[in-house]
Amino acid sequence: MSKNRFYITTPIYYINDRPHIGHAYTTIVADVLARLNRIQGRDVTFLTGTDENSQKTVVAAEKSGESIDAYTNRLAVIWKETWQKLGISNTDFIRTTEERHRSVVEEIWKRINEKGDMYKGKYEGLYCKGHEAFMKESDLIDELCPDHKTKPERLVEENYFFRLSKYQHKLLEFYKSHPNFVVPESRFHEVKSFVQAGLDDLSISRETQKWGIPVPTDLKHVIYVWFDALINYISGIGMKQWEEHPADIQTVGKDIIRFHAIIWPAMLLSAGLPLPKQIVANGFFTVDNVKISKSLGNAIDPLSLAEKYGVDVLRYFLLREIPYGEDGNFSEEKLKERYNSDLANGLGNFTARVLTLAAKETFSEKEKVTEKVEFKIKETKAIVDEKIRQFKLHEALAHIWELLAFGDAYVNATQAWKREDKNVIFSLVTLLDNVAFLLQPFMPETAEKITKRIVWEGDALTIKPGDVLFPRHT
Ligand code: MSP
Repeated sequence: MSKNRFYITTPIYYINDRPHIGHAYTTIVADVLARLNRIQGRDVTFLTGTDENSQKTVVAAEKSGESIDAYTNRLAVIWKETWQKLGISNTDFIRTTEERHRSVVEEIWKRINEKGDMYKGKYEGLYCKGHEAFMKESDLIDELCPDHKTKPERLVEENYFFRLSKYQHKLLEFYKSHPNFVVPESRFHEVKSFVQAGLDDLSISRETQKWGIPVPTDLKHVIYVWFDALINYISGIGMKQWEEHPADIQTVGKDIIRFHAIIWPAMLLSAGLPLPKQIVANGFFTVDNVKISKSLGNAIDPLSLAEKYGVDVLRYFLLREIPYGEDGNFSEEKLKERYNSDLANGLGNFTARVLTLAAKETFSEKEKVTEKVEFKIKETKAIVDEKIRQFKLHEALAHIWELLAFGDAYVNATQAWKREDKNVIFSLVTLLDNVAFLLQPFMPETAEKITKRIVWEGDALTIKPGDVLFPRHT
């Protein structure tokens, strides 16, 4: 049973604002993998949610003049609804203010404490609220956090510490025996060198803050938001389920890879829990070469793009344009270009061309797919499968489009419009049907639209040409 399960997560997002295109990207990637595994017959758990116990929440609630409860409830709904509107197929949504979360965090705190991996000590350091993390002087540029362009504050506190340093060798051993633990490989190298250089213990409580989960053994402190947040991956499914089947894939952005590939596994090792199988990290989008960020106020709303162009178009563009793992620059201009070339002219035209031809025919069980087309379909399926396993989603899509281009060339080479050979037209329909199959995880609505126009009833095939899939945009 457990073998057939597949558990995938996204980061849980801060709720100081609504989702922007960067968050949508990480979530869409997880959705593609969730859908693909579902198609392959696995029992998929797909978790996303909101990271609510951050100081950012307090500041944002104050700014909007709402109570924290009213604010967090309102924002959680916005995030949930955004994912619904973008067709995200998550099976649950975890909020870190939920009781089911708090109880698991307390349990894990106790386990780690009982293991002897916690101690109380004084902390002095520079804290960046944007990152919710301490920073080193050497990380700053002109005394400012280079990502958030804000000055970190100096904190001096009595905190609880987690003996992260103790796990250096265990982590290195784990990395060695799990060569695909972090994708892309370049990020894995960074993680390994960081751990090799030696780890500092981690401050995991805040004495000066009120908002958060109280330390169960010392109610004057609240638990450090990252320690709390990482545990969502367990609380979202339940401790027992995690013990039986930890996450298969955790999607994150490159900014939070250390939390997920170093701190998180160390916490799990300490608590005696199994580790996730794989952490995959996407690069960062920029707009006009500046990082998109809620704090910088240059966010792009994925919903307005989806309303204007369609959910599948947004999904296609993000997945096709930016090689997974690398940074990319977002521009609506480029989206329009791809819309017109790849979707309106490419997929849309081909679909119309093939279905218009095919609608003139009647097909029976006698029709055969030509060898040439059959070979190309098989070859494409194998490559697409391979590319997805390597997280080269943009290349997977490129190969589906290569199959389309092959189909177009085949129409021309065989002069299919003369309708001299029914097998040719039947082959083209089969090719289109396979394109739709391959597109399912990437563009679910479009795939369904195409599939519904190619109707098999027993051995008989009926074609129902429909509307233009992608009307031209100017
Ligand atoms: N709350 C933490 C995560 C806790 S997980 C236990 C957090 N939240 S966040 O709201 O800041 O968003 C994190 C993720 O959103 C990033 O890791 C990344 O996946 C995605 N992105 C945010 N901005 C992005 C871009 N500009 N580009 C691409 N992805 C981006 O960190």
